[in-house]
Formats: sequence, C-alpha cells, structure tokens
Amino acid sequence: MGWKTLDDMDFAGKRALVRVDINVPVENGVVTDTSRIERIIPTVDDIHAQGGKVILLAHFDRPKGKVVPEMSLEHIAGTVADVLGLTVTFVSSNYAEAVDEMEDEEVLLLENLRFHPGEESNDAAFAARLASLGDIYVNDAFSAAHRAHASTEAIAHLLPSCAGRLLEEELGALDAALGNPARPVVAVVGGAKVSTKLDLLGNLVGKVDHLVIGGGMANTFLAAQGFNVGKSLCEHDLADTARAILAKAQATGCEIILPRDIVVAREFKAGAASETCAPDACPDDAMILDAGPATVAYIAEVLEKAKTLVWNGPLGAFEITPFDAATNAAARHAAGLTQAGKLISVAGGGDTVSALNQAGVADDFTYISGAGGAFLEWMEGKTLPGVAALG
Ligand code: 3PG
Ligand code: MG
Repeated sequence: MGWKTLDDMDFAGKRALVRVDINVPVENGVVTDTSRIERIIPTVDDIHAQGGKVILLAHFDRPKGKVVPEMSLEHIAGTVADVLGLTVTFVSSNYAEAVDEMEDEEVLLLENLRFHPGEESNDAAFAARLASLGDIYVNDAFSAAHRAHASTEAIAHLLPSCAGRLLEEELGALDAALGNPARPVVAVVGGAKVSTKLDLLGNLVGKVDHLVIGGGMANTFLAAQGFNVGKSLCEHDLADTARAILAKAQATGCEIILPRDIVVAREFKAGAASETCAPDACPDDAMILDAGPATVAYIAEVLEKAKTLVWNGPLGAFEITPFDAATNAAARHAAGLTQAGKLISVAGGGDTVSALNQAGVADDFTYISGAGGAFLEWMEGKTLPGVAALG
C-alpha cells in the first residue's frame, strides 16, 4: 500500500481538509442511521490530538452540480455535531474567511460539494480552490473512493495527502478478504439482477474457491441450465452470459453453488403461502423467493471448511418474511463461525448491511464495510480512483 496514514503526517498547527462520506439516510428531516458519521470520529479526534484543525469536505445525495436546498448539508450539521461531540460550524460561502476564523477544536463543515459542477467533473480549478483552504488532505471516504471527483481525486495531487483511519481500516479488512486471503475463500453474492453484477461474478470466479449465488440472480442461472422458473424474476436474455460464467468457474476450479432447493410462492407479500421444492420444479404460476433448507445446510457445510467469507447481497427476498429465512440462517451460521475464531467474514454493499442487521448478526462479522458502490467495485477488482490518488 503506497499511501500514507495520519501517523505519517504532522498536523500541529495545520488545517486538514478531511473528505468524509456522511451521505446518510434521512427521513422526514431526521438522520435514520448515523453509522457513517460515527465512523469518522477516530480521524477527527486523531487530527485534533495532534494539534490540527479539521475542515470536513462532503457530498450529500445527487444534486448534479446545482444548488438543491433540500440537499444542503446544513440539515445534518446538527447531527454531525451531536455524534462528534464537537462544535460544528456549517459554511455555505466565504470559505476562506471561515477557515481563518476557526477555533482549534471547532469543526467546519463545507456545503455539499456536489452543488458545484466542478466536483463531479474532477475539475482542476475547483480542486485547487478547495486545496487553498488547507495544508493537508485526508481522505476518509472509502465509500466514495470509487468516484473520481475533485474532492476525492484531483485534490489529492495538490496537497500532502494521506488516508484517514476509516479508509485505512476498510482497505485493511478488504485486503484480508480478497487481496491475500486465508483459503478456502467463499463468496456469497445475492441480489436481484445478474446484469448489475456481471463484473463482480467474473472477477470472483477467478479468485474464490466457492461462489454462492443467491437471490433473483440465481434464477437466471437456473433458467440458463434449462429449468423452468415460472413467474420468477429472471433475466432470460442473460442465459449465455450465465453459462459463460459457469464455464469460467469450471476452468478456474471455483465451485458455483446454486440453490439445491427453492421456496416458491404465488404472491410477493409478507406471509404469503409458500412451499419448498426441487430447483427444477417451480410451478408455472409461482415465483422463487428464497433458497430452501437443503441449500442452507450445504452453504453451512462449505462455510465450516472455509477460512474467509466475503458477502454481498441477500439470498432471498429478505425484506419480507418468511423469505428472509435462508439469508438469516446462513448469516447466523457465518456469525457463529466468526465468533468461534474459525472464519474471517467481511460483508458490504447496499442491502447487505440491512440484511445482516435484520438477521441480528452485523456485530458478529469480522468486518462490515460502510460502503455500497465502492465495496462492489472493489469486489469487481477495479482500482478505486480515490485510493489510487493517494498512492
Ligand atoms: C454512497 O452513498 O454509496 C456514497 O456516498 C457514494 O454516493 P454516490 O453513489 O451518489 O456517488
Ligand atoms: Mg504525526
């Protein structure tokens, strides 16, 4: 890893521009999950402990280069202050003046960077404007590192730069899972569509020993093998692609694990009447909503022998009962093995964290990434521009 950490810098008397990801969920004006804010505390505290000042650079939602008042970071500044336990001053203009006037342990939060078109276009002039506000650049936004934006990429070339604690932690955990993992490695990939995860599957079959495919995606694979999937969510046009992935897996010696039994229902709703059947026996008028107990038992068996697990996406329609059963059972099994010291388990990406929270095991995995898209791109084996720029 070619980048520096907070330990390599001297923050005394310096202003640190700290890129964070506080793109948190907000409902009716209330932040419903403060995890992303909590996770920047170590970096803010370390910089303060070294005598540096902290200016937070962040985005919120996707205003696309325009001022969208509902997307102002002003709305969450209070929550940031509460979570950090510090005075947080929100600034929407006259940044240089605000920086000159800031107190030592006061934190400045600049307005949503995406209100400026230069942010997403990775504009050199916008990056230079930001850079002029500080002495050191710290990137602590792993979950935005897949974006080559002015505050994640261009700015890193303009100032002495380093990774914050969270970025360092995320990369360390991810490297342990796919970079240089203890084998055998199992990947669990679920979710609705194969089309959104083609690169991911393609990369994983070359890297892991066992690849469990679940959720709606599995239906595409079952159909590609000639099974009737009834009214299930299925991308029939991707049959050739699915077969190519199966062939690649065979060539690389990666075992693909598809549902060995399926849970089907006639209605997509909580509590819908369901039955378990063989993967080739989905009735014409039914849809596959979960993997069955035989599949879960086999996944458990594979996990017993594994040393590393990387998980992205649920195995079934986990948001409605009883179709959360396979996801819950497999997640609990992985959590138990992790707690027993037998498995390194890393999970991340979109729905995954809510699925693990729902299974009640998020705290029992070795590491849960706070990233959505960045976690996926990392699993796809792609270079993350925000990380590369620190190199
Ligand atoms: C996220 O929420 O995953 C990050 O903040 C990145 O947001 P984006 O997908 O809008 O770039
Ligand atoms: Mg130091």
